[in-house]
Amino acid sequence: MHTFKDYYHNTVELSFDINPFSDEPKHVWVITKYKDKWLLTEHKRRGYEFPGGKVEEGETAKQAAIREVFEETGGIVKNLTYVGQYRVTGKDKIIIKSIFFAEVEELEKQEHYFETKGPVLLSDFPIHIKKDRRFSFIMRDEVFALTFQKLGYSLGSN
Ligand code: GTP
Repeated sequence: MHTFKDYYHNTVELSFDINPFSDEPKHVWVITKYKDKWLLTEHKRRGYEFPGGKVEEGETAKQAAIREVFEETGGIVKNLTYVGQYRVTGKDKIIIKSIFFAEVEELEKQEHYFETKGPVLLSDFPIHIKKDRRFSFIMRDEVFALTFQKLGYSLGSN
C-alpha cells in the first residue's frame, strides 16, 4: 500500500492488489494505449488526463471504463485489464477509483467528447509532470507515477 498527499493535499492510498477498497468502485481511470502512443483526453478545465469517470447505475467498472474511453477519446477498447485501485479521502467525501490498462484498436472521430476536447496522443510524458500545468491534477501525484512504473514504463526526459 502506498500512501501520500495529492495535489489538493487530500490523502491518497494506492494498492495494486485486487479491489483492496471496494468490489464496486464508483469511479474508474484508464491508462490507455493506441498503437505506440498514449491516448489521453483534454479535459476542458483540468487539462490532459487519461480517460475515466463515474460508474453509472447498472454498469460494472469494466463497462464504465470501456464507455469512458469511447466517450472521451472515440477509442474502441480491445483489451482491458485491471491494474489497481486508489482511495482519495477529501474533506467532504471519499472516492474509490479502479485503475485499468486498455489497448484501443480504433479511434473513431466524434461530434463531441462530453466534458473534454477529445483525444490527445503522446509518445511519452515529461519527467517533471508534477510541475507541468498542461496536465490535470489527477496526473500529477504518485498515482500516475507509481502505476506507470508498475506497468513497466518510466517518465521520459522531455
Ligand atoms: P462532479 O462535479 O459531479 O464530477 O463531481 P465532483 O466534483 O464531486 O467530483 P468527484 O465525485 O469525481 O470527486 C470528488 C473529489 O475527489 C474531487 O473534487 C477531487 O478532489 C477528488 N478526486 C476525484 N478524482 C480524483 C483522482 O483521480 N485523483 C485525486 N487525487 N483526487 C480525485
